[in-house]
Amino acid sequence: MFVKIERNYDAMSLKAAQIVAEVVRAKPNAVLGLATGSTPVGMYQALIRIAKDEGLDFSQVTTFNLDEYEGLSAGHPQSYHAFMWENLFEGLGLREEQTNLLDGMAKDLAAECSEFEEKIRDAGGIDIQVLGIGGDGHIAFNEPGSSLAGRTTVVALHPQTIADNARFFDNEKEVPRRALSMGIGTILDARSCLILAGGKGKAKPWAKMIEGPMCSQVPASALQMHPWVIAISDKAAASKLSNRKYYKHVDRERADQPVLPPWIEQPQLDPRRQAFAKV
Ligand code: F6R
Repeated sequence: MFVKIERNYDAMSLKAAQIVAEVVRAKPNAVLGLATGSTPVGMYQALIRIAKDEGLDFSQVTTFNLDEYEGLSAGHPQSYHAFMWENLFEGLGLREEQTNLLDGMAKDLAAECSEFEEKIRDAGGIDIQVLGIGGDGHIAFNEPGSSLAGRTTVVALHPQTIADNARFFDNEKEVPRRALSMGIGTILDARSCLILAGGKGKAKPWAKMIEGPMCSQVPASALQMHPWVIAISDKAAASKLSNRKYYKHVDRERADQPVLPPWIEQPQLDPRRQAFAKV
């Protein structure tokens, strides 16, 4: 894992946006895995700015989002569909057919999940997966106890996630109890991952993800098994890392190294990792 500690949220957001922009520059038809929530908002704003300032073309990219609430239509203001159009897609001028989000209103949710997996495979796999971390250590909506090899499925939200996300709704009762979520196995298939954390409230799960044992109680710790994860936080979220100094040293040492993995251009993932086995 490449651990980067930025001085504040804005610096973290800019660094993350520069990395995603670099993927699109290197591969104009890149497949981007995207997250919602408070954390990536600054990064999306910075990415829109970079796209405008540099004339970076997003017309060939394809996007896949991590998750969606069950029972919320795309038009619901708290749906992740609405979030993505408001915070990124509109600003980048994406066309609807470039974007892929799970349908929380699908009649057959299991079929919706396996079709989503198939769409990712058909697109050639995700080049960079953007992630945030939950207060309970989740990534996407893979809550504590989730399979570290799981595929896209319907999940029951943890009470902490429901409480955390109540801020987006009028009250906690309105937060859906279930969601459709990319599985951790699906996330680990991405060619690279970019996980962000800002604020003191993320310090504990962030330290567990980076320095704790890998276990299903901290789903984000599964990223320790991925060969190319860039983990960027602000100082507050990094405050419980015991190896902070060393990570800064490594970051300086790597300053002239590419930020993208050498296999970003390969048509399929590293064949040593049984990527995209049919589910
Ligand atoms: C969102 C997602 C979640 C969030 C996490 C952190 O698509 O998959 O895992 O990344 O809950 O949320 P924020 O950024 O709101 O703290």
